[in-house]
Amino acid sequence: MHGGRTKEGTGLMQAGDATFGAGGSGHRPADFAGAGPAGAAAPLAPLFLSVRGVKKHFPVRAGILGRATAWVRAVDGVSFDIGGRGTTFGLVGESGCGKTTLTRVVLRLLPPTAGRVLLEGRDIFGLAGEGLRRLRRDMQLVPQDPYGSLNPRLPVGDIVSEPLWTHAPELRGKALQRRVAELLEVVGLSSAHLRRFPHELSGGQRQRVAIARALALNPRLVILDEPTSALDVSVQAQVINLLRDLQSRFSLTYWFVSHNLPLVEYLSDTVAVMYLGRLVEVGARGDVFPSPAHPYTRALISASPSPDPTRRQEMAVLEGQVPSATAPPPGCRFHTRCPGAESRCRQESPELRELEPGHWVACHLVAARGGGGPRAAAGSGGTRADAPGGPQAVAGGGGANQKGG
Ligand SMILES: Nc1ncnc2c1ncn2[C@@H]1O[C@H](COP(=O)(O)OP(=O)(O)OP(=O)(O)O)[C@@H](O)[C@H]1O
Ligand code: SF4
Ligand SMILES: [Mg+2]
Repeated sequence: MHGGRTKEGTGLMQAGDATFGAGGSGHRPADFAGAGPAGAAAPLAPLFLSVRGVKKHFPVRAGILGRATAWVRAVDGVSFDIGGRGTTFGLVGESGCGKTTLTRVVLRLLPPTAGRVLLEGRDIFGLAGEGLRRLRRDMQLVPQDPYGSLNPRLPVGDIVSEPLWTHAPELRGKALQRRVAELLEVVGLSSAHLRRFPHELSGGQRQRVAIARALALNPRLVILDEPTSALDVSVQAQVINLLRDLQSRFSLTYWFVSHNLPLVEYLSDTVAVMYLGRLVEVGARGDVFPSPAHPYTRALISASPSPDPTRRQEMAVLEGQVPSATAPPPGCRFHTRCPGAESRCRQESPELRELEPGHWVACHLVAARGGGGPRAAAGSGGTRADAPGGPQAVAGGGGANQKGG
């Protein structure tokens, strides 16, 4: 499947069956430029996922003719890379900042306004016909609300086998039944659940069905959009543990979307912070969480529960509401809420700059690295003197790198 062997008994590719990128670690230097807006050099091998300058603007229509009178700039120029298989890329940000829209554009569920996305070198937005069918197999979504996403009229067996009917004609009859039973088993369900309908399952069981369905076609990338936020806390932990177990068994690559920062910190190798349609900070989990550089990241972290009480004391409080995505503030979009905003911030939009290998921040006042690591000019606690020694710092943490744009 998908160019890889399958282990007998599961039909799913096991960890180690396929490697990708640099020794499977996945990192590429940040000047990878095969798809980048400013790049010139060709990459040695394609990154796992490269997102470049992606925008999605929704029209706001008015009048009898339904003319577009304004645009919701839900995603407004986002670029990042996911370097290697088997890693987790976490995307955080307040409600309405564009996280779901970005995933839906990358999944080709929404047409993009602009940008380019490469999955293992394939230009996603240019695919049609068989290429697009293949893409649908390779990228799967586990949505927030399993109840809303599962067809209430179908029993579990049909829900899980549906993608196999569409995309795996080689699996029919007993082979199909075996495969569905295997998928249920790997997510902790059994054949006893085959004939049940979604309303006869608990929330956790429904999410397990959604995960089994997402895994049916051996996806390369699984996008988890708030996969546990609709569940009770105790059930959340079970589903998170299941996701981690599946990742290590099948070398799955996750793109994990959430506004639950502790969960993102727990799961992700690399984290990206989104604000009002743009990324403001990207880096390895071990860089961003202990030493967030962007004032927004610092405020988000200070507002979330942390086992480390010193984190909360050091950092700023996030005040005010996210401005409208229809008329985002000029200059730095965060300036209306930023305690360190200066006049320049109200005029010029900061680009993402690499403070240290693999750690990117869009803020005028965060000084570029120079001897002692990044310094956050706005607020306290942003200085770090232990800048990692090179790109491998991110590769070890999971492998994403970031280009401005
Ligand atoms: N189909 C649409 N038409 C118009 N505006 C939309 C549409 N879908 C989303 N939006 C707007 O785009 C912005 C981003 O929405 P999105 O759902 O991507 O945010 P989010 O970060 O996923 O939020 P949440 O954390 O609440 O899920 C919001 O302002 C939202 O109102
Ligand atoms: S650019 Fe200015 S307003 Fe924006 S985050 Fe940095 S200090 Fe704050
Ligand atoms: Mg969302």
